[in-house]
Amino acid sequence: MTYPLSHEVQRDPDGRLRHLITLEDLSRAELTALLDLAQFYVRVPGDLPARDQSLAGRTVANLFFEPSTRTRVSFELAARRLGAETVNLDMQSSSRMKGETVLDTIYTLEAMHVDVLVMRDAQPGLPASVAAAVEPFVSILNAGEAHLSHPTQGLLDALTIRQHKRHFENLKVVVVGDIEHSRVARSAWQALTTLGVGEFAIAAPADLMPTAGDFARATRYDRLDRALAGADVVMALRVQRERMQEAQIPDEATYSREFGITADRLAGARADVIVMHPGPMNRGFEIAAEVADGPRSVIRQQVTNGVAVRMAVLATVVRNVQARRHFQ
Ligand code: NCD
Repeated sequence: MTYPLSHEVQRDPDGRLRHLITLEDLSRAELTALLDLAQFYVRVPGDLPARDQSLAGRTVANLFFEPSTRTRVSFELAARRLGAETVNLDMQSSSRMKGETVLDTIYTLEAMHVDVLVMRDAQPGLPASVAAAVEPFVSILNAGEAHLSHPTQGLLDALTIRQHKRHFENLKVVVVGDIEHSRVARSAWQALTTLGVGEFAIAAPADLMPTAGDFARATRYDRLDRALAGADVVMALRVQRERMQEAQIPDEATYSREFGITADRLAGARADVIVMHPGPMNRGFEIAAEVADGPRSVIRQQVTNGVAVRMAVLATVVRNVQARRHFQ
């Protein structure tokens, strides 16, 4: 099966974003507009969350064929806080298990007036192929596609960095660990390079370093201390064993000695460094508990921002679909 390219299917004929499959072709202005709208929806924990009726009367379905806590719950809360109705499909017990194709499941939901389908799957290319097949009034939002793309995560990471550092230009952002299997790293790289980050660096053991053509213009480090020197932002990643061949799975003790983010090693970064992690974390392995819970950590703020970013993306695609219906 050949799949259409993600960036070719995500826009309507007027060039507006109708789906969000990848951050690859978003301009700096488009990314900034999404971040600005997300910022408008951010509230501090303790205050009431932002709400409006941008999605009143709409239905949003979550289809997660891979496990998820943060992303699934935050899409659901985002949709509800914009006034939508939500449905969560338990894909473990869904018809796919009975042999129904993903497209047939999608057509079933489409026939029930679902307006936005949020999907996560281990198969590369699936969100784009679904986006190419649905009716023009349905939007597909990619909530994690194999090792390739996780656009709302890229946006929430960029928003978190912007809140702390204000500008991207002179920043050194270092992503550490299992880069090869990380859709989080790929989407962060796409967003941050377009937003003009000073240096995007990746630090990984040889087995988990992506091939040369991937992550163009990123600086590569095989030693953590060199990577962390002068870093403004450090992002630790989970070692994604589920995407690895047996031989690739690193020895835990060696990995955490060489690439684990500890308070000692962080001393080589800038004094105002922020530490990020997309979750789920393996404390004591890729990140020390004292760092995850320490003063440099913005990990919970990333989660807060995740809801705001998903509200911004939902409001944007629904508005764009409506605009096209009205002006046709
Ligand atoms: C990540 C994912 O699923 O891509 N988590 C997330 O969405 N916050 C990262 C991971 O699974 O390690």
